[in-house]
Amino acid sequence: MTGNSKILEVKGIKKSFPGVDALKDIDFSIKKGEVHALIGENGAGKSTFLKILSGNLQPDGGEIYFDGTRVKIENTQKAHHLGIAMVYQELSLVPYLSVAENIFQGHAFHKKKVLRVMNWKRMYDEAKSEITKYGLKINVKKKINQLGVGQQQLVEIIRAVSTDVKLLLLDEPTSALSEEEIRILFDSIINILRKKDVAIIYITHRLEEAFTIADKVTVFRDGEKIQTLNISDTDENQIIQLMVGRRIKNRYIKKEAWIGDTIFKVDGVTAEGLVKNCSFYAKEGEIVGLSGLMGAGRTELAKTLVGLYKKDSGKITVKNVEVNIQSPRDALESGVAYLAEDRKESLIFPLSVSCNITLPNLSQIFENGILHKDKEKAIGRTFIDKLKIEAQNESQKVMYLSGGNQQKVVLAKWIYRNVDVFLLDEPTRGIDVGAKIEVYNLMHDLLTQKKAIILISSELPEIISLSDRVYVMYQGSIAAEYKGEEITQENIIKSATGRSVKNEGKRIH
Ligand SMILES: Nc1ncnc2c1ncn2[C@@H]1O[C@H](COP(=O)(O)OP(=O)(O)OP(=O)(O)O)[C@@H](O)[C@H]1O
Ligand SMILES: [Mg+2]
Repeated sequence: MTGNSKILEVKGIKKSFPGVDALKDIDFSIKKGEVHALIGENGAGKSTFLKILSGNLQPDGGEIYFDGTRVKIENTQKAHHLGIAMVYQELSLVPYLSVAENIFQGHAFHKKKVLRVMNWKRMYDEAKSEITKYGLKINVKKKINQLGVGQQQLVEIIRAVSTDVKLLLLDEPTSALSEEEIRILFDSIINILRKKDVAIIYITHRLEEAFTIADKVTVFRDGEKIQTLNISDTDENQIIQLMVGRRIKNRYIKKEAWIGDTIFKVDGVTAEGLVKNCSFYAKEGEIVGLSGLMGAGRTELAKTLVGLYKKDSGKITVKNVEVNIQSPRDALESGVAYLAEDRKESLIFPLSVSCNITLPNLSQIFENGILHKDKEKAIGRTFIDKLKIEAQNESQKVMYLSGGNQQKVVLAKWIYRNVDVFLLDEPTRGIDVGAKIEVYNLMHDLLTQKKAIILISSELPEIISLSDRVYVMYQGSIAAEYKGEEITQENIIKSATGRSVKNEGKRIH
């Protein structure tokens, strides 16, 4: 049941950072039980807006009314007290604590009489009941760093809603989720909350999601609210046009690249408990998609190949030479780079854009033992132009960039490293529809330089439109290989769910 009263109304919210007006006079409202999608290009001001509502940032001007009363949300405690919870674009769980401890961060479970002694059993039981309420199967005693990014994200959401929440703010909740996890979020979590009259503001770059889950959509552009529409009165094309202020081509047409010799070959790679006997190859100029469901082992395989997980057996060959990779450093030296699915693993937040980009390749900017700052900056500027990174300049710290722009810096960093083989794990996560095309063009540039790209992506349309060949993983093994016309959604899903056994007649060499 959708209530009729507004839970939140804001008028004339403003926020500036040095050099940028992140929000200009925003008016916005949301009713109880309403799911409201917030959409806009990278840097449009979406996260800033939610951070103001969650008490993380103070507006420079404007009024906020919550449940009919004018409020000042001075800090996160105040937001919490009002019943506003937020799940951030960057994961914020404590990696070395258990799922249960993370869910109840801040509330202690003490034994009745002995206040200093934790009642672990009660905490685990309650955490388990929170988790199962939403149809999830996660062991609450597991440490956060033993979970995949998608599961961590679901735990964050459960943590946010385990309190008495009236307004839930989700900043790109699905960017780290697999199809299966998105289904849990939509069918269980969001629908249960909607029935409880919780209002939800939901930032996403995946427009189709707005149409699946939202009642309304608001578009931000350059810090301004452009329009609010009922989902039933609009379509994707209209939203894209409002986002970018002009018509753009929504579809990427793959350009033909010349395909050369096999440059990367993986034979029977096994890492106990993670991946089994995986073999595949990639040629110069090729994009090889690696598809599969949550937990199928795509990230695990990539991390094993670059030495982040221990390889128990198997052989890796780069340009016909067998390489011995025990660490990411060995991988880079052998010509293989891995772009991690979690950007926090790849960036040093207090350093500048240009520092982050040049860091893995310092030798290029050192001459006679002296670091050439000018050269470093010039490289930063080149990538800012190439990838249209929205930053004040190359010296801005990456912590001040919007999420999508941080992701572009991660990409720039690996591209600059100039290796032969790129393992890109969710490279366009959090990148807006327009900027994705820039990233695809950049990938194409790499192919023309005789590189090979292994693309891991949860977005099937991305895998299908970009890949020359696709391998599908199932339960830690490679279950199928498809090329050309065979690369269809149906084939991929069939293999990803274990419904087709090996690839009829074709052997992977
Ligand atoms: N702490 C900060 N200091 C300086 N500038 C900031 C800070 N936080 C955000 N900005 C700037 O404000 C603008 C809006 O950023 P915001 O993070 O709200 O964008 P967004 O719409 O969430 O984008 P994305 O889709 O990439 O996450 C950007 O130009 C960003 O660089
Ligand atoms: Mg953001």
